[in-house]
Amino acid sequence: MDLSQFSLEGKVALITGGSRGIGEATAIQMAKAGADIVVSSRKLPELERVAGEVEKLGRKAMAIETHAARLDQIQNLVDTVVKEFGRIDILVNNAGTTIGAMAMDIEEKAWDAVMNLNLKGVFFLSQAAARVMKNNGSGNIISVASVNGYVTNPMTFVYSISKAALIMATKSMALEWAPHNIRVNAIAPGYIETKLLNATWAHLSEEEKESVKAESASEIPLGRIGEPKEIADVMIFLASQASSYITGRTYIVDGGLLLKG
Ligand SMILES: NC(=O)c1ccc[n+]([C@@H]2O[C@H](COP(=O)([O-])OP(=O)(O)OC[C@H]3O[C@@H](n4cnc5c(N)ncnc54)[C@H](OP(=O)(O)O)[C@@H]3O)[C@@H](O)[C@H]2O)c1
Repeated sequence: MDLSQFSLEGKVALITGGSRGIGEATAIQMAKAGADIVVSSRKLPELERVAGEVEKLGRKAMAIETHAARLDQIQNLVDTVVKEFGRIDILVNNAGTTIGAMAMDIEEKAWDAVMNLNLKGVFFLSQAAARVMKNNGSGNIISVASVNGYVTNPMTFVYSISKAALIMATKSMALEWAPHNIRVNAIAPGYIETKLLNATWAHLSEEEKESVKAESASEIPLGRIGEPKEIADVMIFLASQASSYITGRTYIVDGGLLLKG
């Protein structure tokens, strides 16, 4: 089999939330596939650590501190990448947040924090990057949605709404930008071992947390919580020529969690 179609050689990838978890794994896997990497999030020291790991793999790397829900910072991020690298081939909209609040209790500030990062920020960063990609003649945008875009539970109320809307935003952007040779897709992870997942159980003792985690893992047909790299590997497929005829789709990567309905 010719694996060169999975190569990202010569590509420039911009990854939000690149300081840890799924974003960090994506930076490393994309660098291994040949891409130069820009990582952004709110904490520069963590980003610089990831950029250092990318450089050890022989790729160019840059860390840019950015709050991914602030429109002025988003434009500055895109401008800086273009100034430094001359192009953006791949945008990974990975930064995301959740808040544990029921529909009866949620306050405007919490609603805005989740929607502004998970939806509004994703759209306006995609728009800014797409304008650059249009001028370059091609581009690839991948967003991280969630299985919660398909199913909900009380504590993930606003998070689920934001991720469901992100799945539709993916379709809408894909349709509008296909004539510019810009593909737009998403991945909907199930339970993945990261700080965000563990924050869901932050109110529990270590012992209770381990027990709830084991219970969650037992509900997954593949019998375990996923690793960030298992999302990053699907990202390589979607960012590469191997998926050249796919746009507007969201790939569920959940160990079979949603099969049970
Ligand atoms: N883990 C799961 O089980 C799971 C399941 C489904 C979907 N997801 C999605 O996967 C994506 C990545 O999450 P993760 O699990 O890898 O979580 P994580 O380890 O907590 O990483 C979240 C990343 O987002 C960054 N971030 C948070 N708020 C930000 C902001 N306002 N501006 C810029 N960057 C921000 C964080 O860096 P800073 O703190 O430095 O800003 C960090 O790099 C999210 O969109 C999440 O909804 C995760």
